Amino acid sequence: MSKPVRVAVTGPAGQIGYSLLIRIASGQMFGPETPVILQLLEIPNEKALAALNGVVMEIQDCAFPLVREIIQTSDPMVGFKDADWALLVGSKPRGPGMERADLLKDNGAIFVGQGKAIDAVASADCKVVVVGNPCNTNAMIGASQCKRVPKTNWTAMVRLDENRAKAQLALKAGVGVEQVSNTFIFGNHSPTMYPAFPFARIGARKATEVITDKEWLEGAYCETVGKRGAAIIAARGLSSAASAANALTDHVRDLNTPGKIHSIAVSSEGLYGFSPNVWAGMPVVTTAPGKYQVIKDFTLTEFCKKKIAGTNEELVGEYETVKHLLG
Ligand code: NAD
Ligand code: LMR
Repeated sequence: MSKPVRVAVTGPAGQIGYSLLIRIASGQMFGPETPVILQLLEIPNEKALAALNGVVMEIQDCAFPLVREIIQTSDPMVGFKDADWALLVGSKPRGPGMERADLLKDNGAIFVGQGKAIDAVASADCKVVVVGNPCNTNAMIGASQCKRVPKTNWTAMVRLDENRAKAQLALKAGVGVEQVSNTFIFGNHSPTMYPAFPFARIGARKATEVITDKEWLEGAYCETVGKRGAAIIAARGLSSAASAANALTDHVRDLNTPGKIHSIAVSSEGLYGFSPNVWAGMPVVTTAPGKYQVIKDFTLTEFCKKKIAGTNEELVGEYETVKHLLG
Protein backbone atom coordinates (compact mmCIF):
# COMPACT_ATOMS: atom_id res chain seq x y z
CA MET A 1 0.00 0.00 0.00
CA SER A 2 1.28 3.48 -0.83
CA LYS A 3 0.87 6.66 1.21
CA PRO A 4 -2.73 7.97 1.28
CA VAL A 5 -3.58 10.65 -1.28
CA ARG A 6 -5.38 13.68 0.11
CA VAL A 7 -8.19 14.52 -2.32
CA ALA A 8 -10.18 17.70 -1.86
CA VAL A 9 -13.54 17.70 -3.66
CA THR A 10 -15.80 20.76 -3.89
CA GLY A 11 -19.54 20.36 -4.46
CA PRO A 12 -19.57 16.85 -2.93
CA ALA A 13 -23.30 17.03 -2.14
CA GLY A 14 -24.19 17.76 -5.77
CA GLN A 15 -25.09 15.53 -8.69
CA ILE A 16 -21.55 14.92 -9.94
CA GLY A 17 -20.29 14.55 -6.36
CA TYR A 18 -22.69 11.69 -5.75
CA SER A 19 -21.21 9.60 -8.60
CA LEU A 20 -17.66 10.85 -8.20
CA LEU A 21 -17.02 10.07 -4.55
CA ILE A 22 -17.81 6.40 -5.02
CA ARG A 23 -15.33 6.27 -7.92
CA ILE A 24 -12.58 7.81 -5.79
CA ALA A 25 -13.36 5.79 -2.66
CA SER A 26 -13.46 2.46 -4.53
CA GLY A 27 -9.98 3.01 -6.06
CA GLN A 28 -11.01 3.69 -9.65
CA MET A 29 -9.30 7.08 -9.74
CA PHE A 30 -5.99 6.51 -7.90
CA GLY A 31 -5.73 2.73 -8.23
CA PRO A 32 -6.46 -0.26 -6.00
CA GLU A 33 -3.24 0.15 -3.97
CA THR A 34 -3.65 3.82 -3.04
CA PRO A 35 -5.59 4.77 0.10
CA VAL A 36 -7.43 8.09 0.06
CA ILE A 37 -8.32 10.81 2.54
CA LEU A 38 -11.44 12.61 1.31
CA GLN A 39 -11.65 16.33 2.11
CA LEU A 40 -15.16 17.40 1.19
CA LEU A 41 -15.88 21.12 0.87
CA GLU A 42 -19.48 22.32 0.62
CA ILE A 43 -21.10 25.74 0.98
CA PRO A 44 -22.10 26.80 4.52
CA ASN A 45 -25.76 26.03 3.91
CA GLU A 46 -27.79 23.79 6.20
CA LYS A 47 -29.44 21.82 3.40
CA ALA A 48 -26.18 21.27 1.48
CA LEU A 49 -24.30 20.18 4.61
CA ALA A 50 -27.11 17.80 5.62
CA ALA A 51 -27.05 16.28 2.11
CA LEU A 52 -23.27 15.96 2.36
CA ASN A 53 -23.66 14.12 5.64
CA GLY A 54 -25.99 11.67 3.89
CA VAL A 55 -23.44 11.07 1.12
CA VAL A 56 -20.72 10.47 3.73
CA MET A 57 -22.97 7.92 5.49
CA GLU A 58 -23.34 6.10 2.16
CA ILE A 59 -19.57 6.02 1.60
CA GLN A 60 -19.15 4.60 5.12
CA ASP A 61 -21.80 2.00 4.30
CA CYS A 62 -19.80 0.85 1.27
CA ALA A 63 -16.98 -0.19 3.68
CA PHE A 64 -14.32 0.67 1.10
CA PRO A 65 -10.93 -0.47 2.48
CA LEU A 66 -9.05 2.39 0.75
CA VAL A 67 -10.86 5.19 2.61
CA ARG A 68 -8.67 6.29 5.54
CA GLU A 69 -10.55 9.41 6.62
CA ILE A 70 -13.41 11.64 5.51
CA ILE A 71 -13.40 15.34 6.38
CA GLN A 72 -16.60 17.38 5.90
CA THR A 73 -16.28 21.14 5.98
CA SER A 74 -17.46 24.47 4.62
CA ASP A 75 -14.10 26.14 5.34
CA PRO A 76 -11.79 26.19 2.29
CA MET A 77 -8.74 26.43 4.59
CA VAL A 78 -9.73 23.06 6.07
CA GLY A 79 -10.97 21.54 2.82
CA PHE A 80 -7.80 22.24 0.86
CA LYS A 81 -5.32 21.71 3.72
CA ASP A 82 -2.32 19.69 2.42
CA ALA A 83 -4.41 18.45 -0.54
CA ASP A 84 -2.45 16.49 -3.17
CA TRP A 85 -5.36 16.81 -5.61
CA ALA A 86 -8.17 19.37 -5.64
CA LEU A 87 -11.19 18.53 -7.79
CA LEU A 88 -13.18 21.73 -8.24
CA VAL A 89 -16.69 20.63 -9.12
CA GLY A 90 -18.72 22.89 -6.81
CA SER A 91 -20.52 25.62 -8.75
CA LYS A 92 -23.84 26.27 -10.41
CA PRO A 93 -24.80 24.07 -13.40
CA ARG A 94 -26.67 25.57 -16.36
CA GLY A 95 -30.33 24.92 -16.96
CA PRO A 96 -32.27 24.58 -20.24
CA GLY A 97 -31.66 27.44 -22.69
CA MET A 98 -28.46 28.68 -21.01
CA GLU A 99 -24.94 28.61 -22.46
CA ARG A 100 -22.04 27.69 -20.16
CA ALA A 101 -20.60 31.20 -20.54
CA ASP A 102 -23.83 32.49 -18.89
CA LEU A 103 -22.47 30.97 -15.67
CA LEU A 104 -19.35 33.14 -15.63
CA LYS A 105 -20.86 35.88 -13.49
CA ASP A 106 -22.09 33.46 -10.79
CA ASN A 107 -19.29 30.92 -10.87
CA GLY A 108 -16.19 32.95 -11.78
CA ALA A 109 -15.91 34.54 -8.34
CA ILE A 110 -15.86 31.12 -6.61
CA PHE A 111 -12.52 30.39 -8.25
CA VAL A 112 -10.89 33.58 -6.92
CA GLY A 113 -11.41 32.49 -3.30
CA GLN A 114 -10.67 28.83 -3.95
CA GLY A 115 -7.49 29.63 -5.92
CA LYS A 116 -6.23 31.77 -3.03
CA ALA A 117 -7.10 29.09 -0.44
CA ILE A 118 -5.37 26.35 -2.48
CA ASP A 119 -2.27 28.51 -2.79
CA ALA A 120 -2.31 29.18 0.96
CA VAL A 121 -2.81 25.68 2.37
CA ALA A 122 -2.69 22.87 -0.22
CA SER A 123 0.43 20.83 -0.98
CA ALA A 124 2.87 22.99 -3.00
CA ASP A 125 2.56 20.42 -5.81
CA CYS A 126 -1.24 20.11 -5.56
CA LYS A 127 -2.82 19.13 -8.89
CA VAL A 128 -6.03 21.05 -9.46
CA VAL A 129 -8.75 19.98 -11.91
CA VAL A 130 -11.60 22.38 -12.69
CA VAL A 131 -14.95 20.88 -13.69
CA GLY A 132 -17.32 23.73 -12.68
CA ASN A 133 -18.40 25.65 -15.77
CA PRO A 134 -17.26 27.49 -17.75
CA CYS A 135 -14.33 25.31 -16.77
CA ASN A 136 -11.58 26.63 -19.08
CA THR A 137 -11.98 30.19 -17.88
CA ASN A 138 -12.63 29.23 -14.25
CA ALA A 139 -9.26 27.41 -14.31
CA MET A 140 -7.65 30.58 -15.65
CA ILE A 141 -9.18 32.58 -12.77
CA GLY A 142 -8.13 30.06 -10.10
CA ALA A 143 -4.59 29.58 -11.39
CA SER A 144 -4.05 33.34 -11.58
CA GLN A 145 -4.46 33.57 -7.78
CA CYS A 146 -1.52 31.21 -7.17
CA LYS A 147 2.09 32.13 -6.46
CA ARG A 148 3.18 28.86 -4.83
CA VAL A 149 1.21 26.18 -6.72
CA PRO A 150 2.42 26.29 -10.37
CA LYS A 151 -0.03 27.34 -13.08
CA THR A 152 0.83 24.15 -14.98
CA ASN A 153 -0.67 22.12 -12.09
CA TRP A 154 -4.09 23.58 -12.98
CA THR A 155 -6.08 21.83 -15.70
CA ALA A 156 -9.72 21.94 -16.78
CA MET A 157 -11.79 18.99 -17.93
CA VAL A 158 -12.50 18.41 -21.62
CA ARG A 159 -12.36 14.63 -21.17
CA LEU A 160 -16.12 14.31 -21.30
CA ASP A 161 -15.95 15.83 -24.79
CA GLU A 162 -13.12 13.46 -25.75
CA ASN A 163 -15.16 10.47 -24.59
CA ARG A 164 -18.23 11.76 -26.44
CA ALA A 165 -16.14 12.19 -29.61
CA LYS A 166 -14.77 8.66 -29.29
CA ALA A 167 -18.25 7.18 -28.80
CA GLN A 168 -19.71 9.02 -31.83
CA LEU A 169 -16.88 7.84 -34.13
CA ALA A 170 -17.27 4.27 -32.88
CA LEU A 171 -21.03 4.36 -33.52
CA LYS A 172 -20.58 5.75 -37.03
CA ALA A 173 -17.83 3.26 -37.94
CA GLY A 174 -19.68 0.34 -36.32
CA VAL A 175 -16.67 -0.61 -34.16
CA GLY A 176 -16.09 -0.92 -30.41
CA VAL A 177 -14.93 2.25 -28.62
CA GLU A 178 -11.67 0.52 -27.74
CA GLN A 179 -10.77 0.70 -31.45
CA VAL A 180 -10.94 4.52 -31.46
CA SER A 181 -8.06 6.70 -30.21
CA ASN A 182 -6.63 10.22 -30.46
CA THR A 183 -10.02 11.97 -30.33
CA PHE A 184 -8.43 15.23 -29.18
CA ILE A 185 -10.47 18.25 -28.15
CA PHE A 186 -9.13 21.68 -29.03
CA GLY A 187 -10.45 24.85 -27.39
CA ASN A 188 -13.39 25.56 -25.14
CA HIS A 189 -15.67 23.13 -23.30
CA SER A 190 -18.59 24.59 -25.23
CA PRO A 191 -20.33 24.12 -28.60
CA THR A 192 -17.40 25.92 -30.29
CA MET A 193 -14.94 23.17 -29.30
CA TYR A 194 -13.16 21.33 -32.09
CA PRO A 195 -13.14 17.52 -31.87
CA ALA A 196 -10.16 17.16 -34.20
CA PHE A 197 -11.17 14.18 -36.34
CA PRO A 198 -8.16 14.46 -38.75
CA PHE A 199 -5.90 13.09 -35.97
CA ALA A 200 -8.28 10.37 -34.72
CA ARG A 201 -7.48 6.71 -35.39
CA ILE A 202 -9.72 3.70 -35.77
CA GLY A 203 -7.60 0.61 -35.21
CA ALA A 204 -4.38 1.18 -37.15
CA ARG A 205 -6.00 3.54 -39.70
CA LYS A 206 -6.82 7.22 -39.79
CA ALA A 207 -10.48 7.73 -38.83
CA THR A 208 -10.93 9.74 -42.04
CA GLU A 209 -9.96 6.66 -44.10
CA VAL A 210 -12.60 4.57 -42.32
CA ILE A 211 -15.29 7.27 -42.24
CA THR A 212 -15.08 8.99 -45.61
CA ASP A 213 -18.25 11.07 -45.19
CA LYS A 214 -16.52 14.47 -44.92
CA GLU A 215 -19.83 16.33 -44.69
CA TRP A 216 -20.78 14.27 -41.61
CA LEU A 217 -17.37 14.74 -39.97
CA GLU A 218 -17.31 18.50 -40.49
CA GLY A 219 -21.01 18.96 -39.75
CA ALA A 220 -23.16 16.57 -37.72
CA TYR A 221 -20.21 14.99 -35.86
CA CYS A 222 -18.74 18.28 -34.59
CA GLU A 223 -22.23 19.54 -33.76
CA THR A 224 -23.30 16.39 -31.88
CA VAL A 225 -20.16 16.38 -29.73
CA GLY A 226 -20.26 20.15 -29.15
CA LYS A 227 -23.94 20.24 -28.20
CA ARG A 228 -24.12 16.98 -26.28
CA GLY A 229 -24.28 18.72 -22.89
CA ALA A 230 -27.33 20.73 -24.01
CA ALA A 231 -28.97 17.58 -25.45
CA ILE A 232 -28.61 15.88 -22.06
CA ILE A 233 -30.04 18.90 -20.23
CA ALA A 234 -32.99 18.94 -22.65
CA ALA A 235 -33.61 15.21 -22.12
CA ARG A 236 -32.98 14.92 -18.37
CA GLY A 237 -33.82 18.42 -17.20
CA LEU A 238 -30.47 18.26 -15.40
CA SER A 239 -26.90 18.47 -16.63
CA SER A 240 -24.77 15.38 -17.15
CA ALA A 241 -23.49 13.90 -13.91
CA ALA A 242 -22.51 10.21 -14.07
CA SER A 243 -20.67 10.71 -17.38
CA ALA A 244 -18.97 13.82 -15.97
CA ALA A 245 -17.79 11.90 -12.89
CA ASN A 246 -16.58 9.11 -15.17
CA ALA A 247 -14.69 11.62 -17.34
CA LEU A 248 -13.05 13.19 -14.28
CA THR A 249 -11.95 9.72 -13.15
CA ASP A 250 -10.39 9.21 -16.62
CA HIS A 251 -8.78 12.68 -16.58
CA VAL A 252 -7.05 12.11 -13.22
CA ARG A 253 -6.12 8.47 -13.86
CA ASP A 254 -4.53 9.30 -17.24
CA LEU A 255 -2.77 12.36 -15.83
CA ASN A 256 -1.20 10.02 -13.27
CA THR A 257 -0.17 7.40 -15.84
CA PRO A 258 3.05 8.12 -17.77
CA GLY A 259 2.73 7.59 -21.52
CA LYS A 260 -1.03 8.25 -21.69
CA ILE A 261 -2.13 10.51 -24.54
CA HIS A 262 -5.32 12.45 -23.85
CA SER A 263 -6.94 15.93 -23.90
CA ILE A 264 -6.93 18.43 -21.05
CA ALA A 265 -7.49 22.19 -21.03
CA VAL A 266 -4.41 24.18 -20.04
CA SER A 267 -3.00 27.67 -20.42
CA SER A 268 -2.58 27.83 -24.21
CA GLU A 269 0.79 29.62 -24.22
CA GLY A 270 -0.13 30.68 -27.76
CA LEU A 271 0.09 27.15 -29.20
CA TYR A 272 -1.94 26.03 -32.24
CA GLY A 273 -2.98 29.61 -33.00
CA PHE A 274 -4.72 30.27 -29.65
CA SER A 275 -4.35 33.59 -27.90
CA PRO A 276 -1.74 33.25 -25.10
CA ASN A 277 -4.38 34.70 -22.74
CA VAL A 278 -6.80 31.78 -22.97
CA TRP A 279 -7.09 28.27 -21.55
CA ALA A 280 -7.76 25.72 -24.25
CA GLY A 281 -8.24 21.98 -24.69
CA MET A 282 -5.04 20.48 -26.13
CA PRO A 283 -3.61 17.01 -26.80
CA VAL A 284 -1.07 16.08 -24.11
CA VAL A 285 1.14 13.17 -23.14
CA THR A 286 1.60 12.36 -19.45
CA THR A 287 5.35 12.46 -18.73
CA ALA A 288 5.35 11.50 -15.01
CA PRO A 289 2.55 11.12 -12.43
CA GLY A 290 0.63 14.42 -12.52
CA LYS A 291 2.92 15.96 -15.18
CA TYR A 292 2.27 16.42 -18.87
CA GLN A 293 3.55 17.99 -22.05
CA VAL A 294 1.40 19.46 -24.79
CA ILE A 295 1.90 17.53 -28.05
CA LYS A 296 2.92 20.34 -30.39
CA ASP A 297 3.54 18.67 -33.73
CA PHE A 298 0.11 18.10 -35.25
CA THR A 299 -0.25 19.85 -38.60
CA LEU A 300 -3.50 21.80 -38.84
CA THR A 301 -5.64 21.67 -41.98
CA GLU A 302 -7.48 24.80 -43.14
CA PHE A 303 -10.67 23.41 -41.54
CA CYS A 304 -8.82 22.85 -38.22
CA LYS A 305 -7.51 26.44 -38.32
CA LYS A 306 -11.02 27.79 -38.96
CA LYS A 307 -12.51 25.77 -36.07
CA ILE A 308 -9.69 26.79 -33.72
CA ALA A 309 -10.17 30.45 -34.68
CA GLY A 310 -13.88 30.16 -33.75
CA THR A 311 -13.34 28.58 -30.34
CA ASN A 312 -10.42 30.94 -29.64
CA GLU A 313 -12.67 33.94 -30.32
CA GLU A 314 -15.16 32.70 -27.73
CA LEU A 315 -12.39 32.07 -25.17
CA VAL A 316 -10.97 35.56 -25.75
CA GLY A 317 -14.47 36.94 -25.07
CA GLU A 318 -14.59 35.00 -21.76
CA TYR A 319 -11.11 36.29 -20.88
CA GLU A 320 -12.23 39.88 -21.53
CA THR A 321 -15.29 39.35 -19.29
CA VAL A 322 -13.27 38.07 -16.32
CA LYS A 323 -9.95 39.85 -16.61
CA HIS A 324 -10.84 42.07 -13.63
CA LEU A 325 -10.94 38.86 -11.52
CA LEU A 326 -7.43 37.71 -12.45
CA GLY A 327 -4.81 37.85 -9.69
P1 NAD B 1 -25.11 20.52 -8.60
O1 NAD B 1 -25.89 21.80 -8.49
O2 NAD B 1 -25.84 19.23 -8.56
O3 NAD B 1 -24.02 20.48 -7.45
C1 NAD B 1 -23.15 21.53 -7.23
C2 NAD B 1 -22.72 21.45 -5.78
O4 NAD B 1 -21.72 22.42 -5.59
C3 NAD B 1 -23.85 21.77 -4.78
O5 NAD B 1 -23.87 20.79 -3.78
C4 NAD B 1 -23.47 23.14 -4.24
O6 NAD B 1 -23.88 23.35 -2.91
C5 NAD B 1 -21.94 23.06 -4.34
N1 NAD B 1 -21.24 24.35 -4.38
C6 NAD B 1 -21.63 25.49 -4.98
N2 NAD B 1 -20.73 26.46 -4.75
C7 NAD B 1 -19.74 25.89 -4.03
C8 NAD B 1 -18.55 26.40 -3.46
N3 NAD B 1 -18.19 27.69 -3.61
N4 NAD B 1 -17.77 25.54 -2.75
C9 NAD B 1 -18.13 24.27 -2.57
N5 NAD B 1 -19.27 23.73 -3.06
C10 NAD B 1 -20.06 24.54 -3.79
O7 NAD B 1 -24.21 20.63 -9.92
P2 NAD B 1 -23.48 19.45 -10.71
O8 NAD B 1 -24.44 18.88 -11.68
O9 NAD B 1 -22.78 18.57 -9.76
O10 NAD B 1 -22.44 20.31 -11.58
C11 NAD B 1 -21.39 21.01 -10.98
C12 NAD B 1 -20.64 21.84 -12.03
O11 NAD B 1 -19.99 20.98 -12.98
C13 NAD B 1 -21.54 22.77 -12.86
O12 NAD B 1 -20.88 24.01 -13.04
C14 NAD B 1 -21.66 22.03 -14.18
O13 NAD B 1 -21.98 22.90 -15.25
C15 NAD B 1 -20.26 21.47 -14.30
N6 NAD B 1 -20.08 20.37 -15.25
C16 NAD B 1 -18.93 20.38 -15.99
C17 NAD B 1 -18.69 19.35 -16.89
C18 NAD B 1 -17.44 19.34 -17.74
O14 NAD B 1 -17.35 18.50 -18.64
N7 NAD B 1 -16.45 20.21 -17.52
C19 NAD B 1 -19.61 18.31 -17.02
C20 NAD B 1 -20.77 18.33 -16.24
C21 NAD B 1 -21.00 19.38 -15.35
C1 LMR C 1 -21.74 18.90 -20.14
O1 LMR C 1 -21.01 19.06 -21.11
O2 LMR C 1 -22.56 17.95 -20.06
C2 LMR C 1 -21.62 19.84 -18.97
O3 LMR C 1 -20.69 20.86 -19.23
C3 LMR C 1 -22.92 20.40 -18.52
C4 LMR C 1 -23.45 21.42 -19.50
O4 LMR C 1 -23.82 22.53 -19.08
O5 LMR C 1 -23.49 21.10 -20.68
